[in-house]
Amino acid sequence: MLPFYGRRLSRKTKRFDSFDLENYKFFFNEINFSDIKKKLVKRCQNVNLEIGFGKGENLIFQSQTKKKDIFLAIDPFISGGLKLKKKIETLKISNIFFSNVTFSQFFKVVGDLNFKKIFILFPDPWPKKRHKKRRLINEEFVKNLAKITLKYSEILVVTDDEDYSNQILKSFSKQNLFKLLLKTSDSQIFEYYKIYPTTYYRKAKRENRIINLFIYQK
Ligand SMILES: C[S@@+](CC[C@H](N)C(=O)[O-])C[C@H]1O[C@@H](n2cnc3c(N)ncnc32)[C@H](O)[C@@H]1O
Repeated sequence: MLPFYGRRLSRKTKRFDSFDLENYKFFFNEINFSDIKKKLVKRCQNVNLEIGFGKGENLIFQSQTKKKDIFLAIDPFISGGLKLKKKIETLKISNIFFSNVTFSQFFKVVGDLNFKKIFILFPDPWPKKRHKKRRLINEEFVKNLAKITLKYSEILVVTDDEDYSNQILKSFSKQNLFKLLLKTSDSQIFEYYKIYPTTYYRKAKRENRIINLFIYQK
């Protein structure tokens, strides 16, 4: 299991603020996930997943664009989860369930649930050579994605790191479980596919970095 090396709290977030999330009806953990799963199976709606939702910007946008779909989202960054909770309350959203578990923890409890779309926007690039093993997307991760998707499910990945782009291409092509539908750095296509310009997207744009979008289909 890949441990989590990132930040769980920003400097501005107090540790006790995270208790706000624990009893929140749209927040889940590894133990109560089975209750949410039961509800989802009954509802028969399309279920999507965002891994590493950050502040929840894309998640909110997607949930408003597809109101009949359900969106599950995971990110151990609690400060982002607290921001997301506020937005869910302000906008009265009811089709998002989120958690601070890592993908490895989530994968252990997800069982036979399948996702229609999986969004992974700006996964941490870990640019130093000695840290590359920390990257989320590798061959084992692709194998796991195949277990939680069905035929025609799509994986949308965005990164502004060239070396990670190559690792993503290699990891998917070696496993041969998904076909590459699209690889582009054209921002108009990002708009066409309704990928929200998140904080990391805007930062990459300001720094004139090339942003790659990969769409894989099972
Ligand atoms: C660079 S940020 C991108 C955030 C957001 N997607 C965006 O575009 O603004 C990467 C996010 O992935 C989260 N993350 C890192 N490892 C993760 C894991 N194993 N499972 C789920 N989320 C993870 C981090 O906590 C962080 O919030």
